[in-house]
Amino acid sequence: MMWSSFFFGLLIACTGNPASSSCSLKMSPSRVVVKFEGSFSANCTSLSNDTEGMGWESPYGGVDLTQNVTSLDFKIDSVPEWELGPMCYTNSRDGGQCTEVLPVTVYKMPDSVSLRQNSSTGKEGEQFAIQCDLVNVAPARNLSVLWHKGNKILNPETFNDSRPSPVSKSSVLTLTAHRDDDGAEIWCEAKLNLWPGEQGPTMMRSKSHRVTVLYPPTLTKPENETLEMTVGENITLNCNAKGNPPPSYRWEFPKFSKEFHNKEEVIEPILTRTFELPGVYTCTAYSDQGTVTKYFNISEAPRSRTTFGVMVGVGVAVGVLLLIAGVYFVTPNGTFSFNKGGYQPGTPSGPV
Ligand SMILES: *[C@@H]1O[C@H](CO)[C@@H](O)[C@H](O)[C@H]1NC(C)=O
Ligand SMILES: *[C@@H]1O[C@H](CO)[C@@H](O)[C@H](O)[C@H]1NC(C)=O
Ligand SMILES: *[C@@H]1O[C@H](CO)[C@@H](O)[C@H](O)[C@H]1NC(C)=O
Ligand SMILES: *[C@@H]1O[C@H](CO)[C@@H](O)[C@H](O)[C@H]1NC(C)=O
Ligand SMILES: *[C@@H]1O[C@H](CO)[C@@H](O)[C@H](O)[C@H]1NC(C)=O
Ligand SMILES: *[C@@H]1O[C@H](CO)[C@@H](O)[C@H](O)[C@H]1NC(C)=O
Ligand SMILES: *[C@@H]1O[C@H](CO)[C@@H](O)[C@H](O)[C@H]1NC(C)=O
Ligand SMILES: *[C@@H]1O[C@H](CO)[C@@H](O)[C@H](O)[C@H]1NC(C)=O
Ligand SMILES: *[C@@H]1O[C@H](CO)[C@@H](O)[C@H](O)[C@H]1NC(C)=O
Repeated sequence: MMWSSFFFGLLIACTGNPASSSCSLKMSPSRVVVKFEGSFSANCTSLSNDTEGMGWESPYGGVDLTQNVTSLDFKIDSVPEWELGPMCYTNSRDGGQCTEVLPVTVYKMPDSVSLRQNSSTGKEGEQFAIQCDLVNVAPARNLSVLWHKGNKILNPETFNDSRPSPVSKSSVLTLTAHRDDDGAEIWCEAKLNLWPGEQGPTMMRSKSHRVTVLYPPTLTKPENETLEMTVGENITLNCNAKGNPPPSYRWEFPKFSKEFHNKEEVIEPILTRTFELPGVYTCTAYSDQGTVTKYFNISEAPRSRTTFGVMVGVGVAVGVLLLIAGVYFVTPNGTFSFNKGGYQPGTPSGPV
C-alpha cells in the first residue's frame, strides 16, 4: 500500500508537474461559436504561479503583454473574418513562454434555401428529383440538409468540405413517384450543427413543394359485387375510385332498361336507386392514366319474386274485377302492365 501510493505520487510529480507548472492555461469558454460580424469575449487564465505577464495575439486586435496578471480578457466586437485563431500567451519568470489557441467557429446562415424541380408532375413508378439550393452558408463541415416529406424526415446529407468561408451547396433528393405521395408536402431544411445538442437559431427551411403523382384509377372496393334487388328498395352500387387526375365514370345498364335507352351519361361514382332489372351493371372509371371496370351482378331476390308475384296476382284480380265492371278506359300503370309475349319500355321483364 505504502509503496503503491508513493509510486503513484512520484508518477504524477514526474509527468504532470514540470510541464503544467510552466505551461497551464485555462480558456473560458473553451471554444467559441460566433456569428459572422458578431461579438464575443473570452478569458485566458494562467494556472501557474510563475507568470510574469500575459497577452493575446490575433490579426484582428490582440491584447498587449500585460505584467503581473494571471487572467486576461479578449474581446472582438464584430468578427471580420471566417478563420480566427486568437492565441493567449504567458511569459514566465524563468523566461519560458506558453501559448494556447482559442478555437473559434464563425458561422453564417444561408442567404436563401430554395427548392427546384424539373417537372412538377411525375407518373407513378417514374423517378423524379428535387433539388435544394443553399446560398452562402458557413461553415460547410457543420452543415446538414434535412429533407422533409410530410411528417417524415429523409436521410440527412452532410458535406465533406473544410472551407471556413461561405459556400453554396445543393442537395438532390431522388424519389420514385408513388401514389401515396400524391399531394404530399416536401421541403428541405438547412441546419448548422454548431453546438452539441439542440441550441441556437441555426435552422432555415425552404418553402414547401406539393408533390403531384399521376396514377390510374384504382377502385376503393375492387371486387365485383353480386347484389339482390328488392322491389321498392334502394341498392347502392359503389364504383368509387381514386386516381390522379380524378377519374370520370361511365355506367352501362342491362339492355332494355330505361337508363340504357335514354343513353343518359351517369357520372357519379356511387349510384343509389331502385333497380328495375336484374342483370350485369358495369361501371368504368377512366382517366388519361388508365381505365378500371367493375361489374355488379344484380339478381332478383327470391322474396321479391314472391312479393312481385302477389302484387301481379292482386293486379290481375283487380283488372279482372274492373273488366267485369266494364271499365275499359283504365290505363294500366307500368308496374302492373306486364304482358307475356312482349316487352314494353320501362317495364320489368324478368320471369314472373
Ligand atoms: C476571467 O477569469 C478569472 C479567473 O477565473 C476571473 O477572476 C475573471 O473575473 C474572469 N473575467 C471575465 C471577464 O470573465
Ligand atoms: C510555485 O509553487 C510551487 C509549489 O506549489 C513552489 O514550490 C514555488 O516556489 C512557487 N513559485 C513561486 C514563484 O511562487
Ligand atoms: C510586477 O511585479 C513585480 C514584482 O512583484 C514588480 O517588481 C513590478 O514592478 C511589477 N510590474 C508592474 C508593471 O506592475
Ligand atoms: C433535371 O434537369 C437536369 C438538367 O437539365 C438533368 O440533368 C436532370 O436529369 C433532370 N432531372 C429529372 C428528374 O428530370
Ligand atoms: C473528405 O474529403 C477528403 C479530401 O477530399 C478525403 O480524403 C476524405 O476521405 C473525405 N472524407 C469523407 C468522410 O468522405
Ligand atoms: C462542427 O464542426 C467541427 C469541425 O468539423 C467539429 O469539431 C464539431 O464537432 C462540429 N460540431 C458539431 C455539433 O457537429
Ligand atoms: C370481375 O368480372 C370480370 C368479368 O366477369 C372479370 O374479368 C374480372 O376479373 C372480375 N374482377 C374481379 C376483381 O374479380
Ligand atoms: C332511394 O334513393 C333516392 C336517391 O338517393 C332517395 O331519394 C329515395 O328516398 C331512396 N328511397 C328509399 C326507399 O330509400
Ligand atoms: C349473377 O349472379 C347469379 C347468382 O349468384 C348467377 O347465377 C349468375 O350466373 C351471375 N351472372 C353473371 C353474368 O355473373
